[in-house]
Amino acid sequence: MAQFGDFDSVRKDIEAILKNKDYDDGSIGPVIVRLAWHSSGTYSKEDNTGGSNGAGMRYEQEGTDPANAGLEHARKFLEPIKEKHSWITYADLWTLAGVTAIKAMGGPDIPWKPGRTDFTNTKFLPPRGRLPDGAQAQDHLRHIFYRMGFNDQEIVALSGAHSLGRCHSDRSGFDGPWAVNPTRFSNTYFKHLLELKWEPRKWDGPFQYSARAPGMDEDDEPLMMLPTDYALIQDPKFREWVEKYAADRDLFFSDFTKVFAKLIELGVYRDEDGIARCDKRDAKGSYISAPPMSGTSTKL
Ligand code: HEM
Repeated sequence: MAQFGDFDSVRKDIEAILKNKDYDDGSIGPVIVRLAWHSSGTYSKEDNTGGSNGAGMRYEQEGTDPANAGLEHARKFLEPIKEKHSWITYADLWTLAGVTAIKAMGGPDIPWKPGRTDFTNTKFLPPRGRLPDGAQAQDHLRHIFYRMGFNDQEIVALSGAHSLGRCHSDRSGFDGPWAVNPTRFSNTYFKHLLELKWEPRKWDGPFQYSARAPGMDEDDEPLMMLPTDYALIQDPKFREWVEKYAADRDLFFSDFTKVFAKLIELGVYRDEDGIARCDKRDAKGSYISAPPMSGTSTKL
């Protein structure tokens, strides 16, 4: 029985679909983590718009933002969970799935609170262009993440999520994984940044860095770094934190826990009853769980 408010049961059902031998490196976990992050990373502290409340990616404007290319797969994977637990909001489901996936891939247990509601119209969708562009460097990272209310240490800690998953040439245009085991949450990303010999990749695609880890053969798929990843070792203030996290896994896990919990709370302002109403004028006094959208945003 899918009982209202039984988040533990939702968590268990999410855990059960993470391993998927037909998808990428055998897990949908990384793309689910990216969904949780992109649903939150539209936040602006300047006007309190964007953030994980609302689940705006169900709507075409946000769902088909080129920065969100590929996330329709993540949304689609979660659809059966939403169908079974129809009372849960998409905004809660996507963020809960993110923390569940991180833990299942060996990462920390990140605190998560329910109460997000779903938009029922397009009035409050954030503008496009608020998510980071991997082709840029440190000034851009600061511009984007300071807007969300993060500092330099938090930018570096958050970037450590790139120990997970890979770039897809048909989504972002970039290609390849950052780490040898892209379905294991770890501080390997920071170690690789400092220890491997990164060279510009010679290919027809966008500029990115490429390297092989010790023990990798010529035939093995090389590892990659985006210009924004590489900027973390070029910028002295960022580099300090890269060095700390490469040397101290526990410090990284503890800082990542705090910063990811902060990320998924961006734009979520709960009333006394624990419900974060998107639009008080539309509020029906309850936890608004919107139906799936029939548009392009969840279609593959
Ligand atoms: C710092 C600025 C960031 C930039 C420029 C950036 C850029 C990208 C790009 C280009 C991809 C590849 C998408 C694809 O082709 O499928 C990607 C994937 C990913 N990103 Fe980021 N990202 C950033 C920060 C973050 C943060 C803060 C998180 C989470 C805390 C995150 C988690 C992920 C994950 C897990 C993937 C793998 C997705 C998959 O395997 O499908 N990223 N990112």
